[in-house]
Amino acid sequence: MHRVAISATGLFTPDEVITNAELVASYNAYAEKRNAANETAIAAGEAEPMPMSNEEFIVKASGIERRFVMDKKGVLDPDVMRPILRERSDDELSIMAEIAVAAAKDALEKAGRTADEIDAVICAASNHERAYPAIAIEVQQALGIEGFAFDMNVACSSATFGIQAAADMIRSGSARAILMVNPEITSGHHEWRDRDCHFIFGDVCTAVVLERADEVKSGNAWEIVSTRCATTFSNNIRNNNGFLRRTREGHMADRRDMQFMQEGRKVFKQVVPWVTELMLSHLSDEGIAPDDLDRLWLHQANKSMNDLIGQKVLGREPSRKEQPNVLQDYANTSSAGSIIAFNQYSDDLPEGSLGVICSFGAGYSAGSVIVRRIA
Ligand code: COA
Repeated sequence: MHRVAISATGLFTPDEVITNAELVASYNAYAEKRNAANETAIAAGEAEPMPMSNEEFIVKASGIERRFVMDKKGVLDPDVMRPILRERSDDELSIMAEIAVAAAKDALEKAGRTADEIDAVICAASNHERAYPAIAIEVQQALGIEGFAFDMNVACSSATFGIQAAADMIRSGSARAILMVNPEITSGHHEWRDRDCHFIFGDVCTAVVLERADEVKSGNAWEIVSTRCATTFSNNIRNNNGFLRRTREGHMADRRDMQFMQEGRKVFKQVVPWVTELMLSHLSDEGIAPDDLDRLWLHQANKSMNDLIGQKVLGREPSRKEQPNVLQDYANTSSAGSIIAFNQYSDDLPEGSLGVICSFGAGYSAGSVIVRRIA
């Protein structure tokens, strides 16, 4: 069995930013228009008026201050309320592959690796823009990588599950070095017209290079000490869009359940203890005390959720340095969140430092990756 390391991570951040103030103004304009259109039904008590959103609630409930998106104009237009992306011909690089290639180039450069040294590409994301061919194979071709590639989806835990899949292949020898990418265009499956969640998501892409620990060339490499993945079925985060949509009467309509839906309170209450237990049992089974940890790079969905998980895992309040958040700037970027945190906040720690990358989300799914800095 070979030892495995993350030799580099990479990041693609879209150019366009939406602040909470801009988002709330757009949502409220949309809600006011809808209410005006439904004035008679609302006055007759036959319809409920749409409630207004506000910035204070968003920051207090989530910690999110802004988010990056691939198309700001469409999202903020009260008559559109979704991103408008240019149609591309089948001969052009698809948008998910494009942002994956950008993040991958960043990661490969930091790893000191070229395409010919990579054996496989995994595209691990919560949504894939088409059924086939796999986005990962398109990325493989765009970068000139030989070998094999495949897509996988475990929602917000796609990246940590992807790390485990890649690490297992490198450990056993079926691949020597693997590129894993997480293109998350969450704005496409998000419901910008729903006050309860319209502030949650943002777009981004992360990339991770994994290889044999004794072959790393980068100056910021982390050995994968151990990985643990867990799932338990829940409908509390769900999206009913899928390839059978056109087979069912009425399913082609603009339906709420064809975008992201969640019971946010239930998710919070159920996922916090489940993830805490996963992290604590994983650490304990590896003979690592929580006090030995230098950093937690948690999934970036909600600040209070992270505060609580960090507190329960460490047995005390974590400092901002010990548990960095990026969600104030990026919002929830699904599988990419914990990798952005790792990408931004790992270089400052000395060799020998120990940390955990941990994701959690729909499924439910959760992944815990214990890492130790080796270079
Ligand atoms: N502006 C103003 N008020 C709002 C609002 C908004 N944008 N959205 C909701 N509210 C209101 C609600 O209607 C509710 O009013 P009520 O008390 O009169 O019923 C109140 O604020 C509280 O709403 P609630 O949904 O209970 O808020 P919350 O504190 O649970 O925060 C989330 C909502 C979604 C931020 C939070 O539950 C969360 O982050 N959960 C975990 C989500 C998660 O991790 N998901 C994973 C996705 S991959």
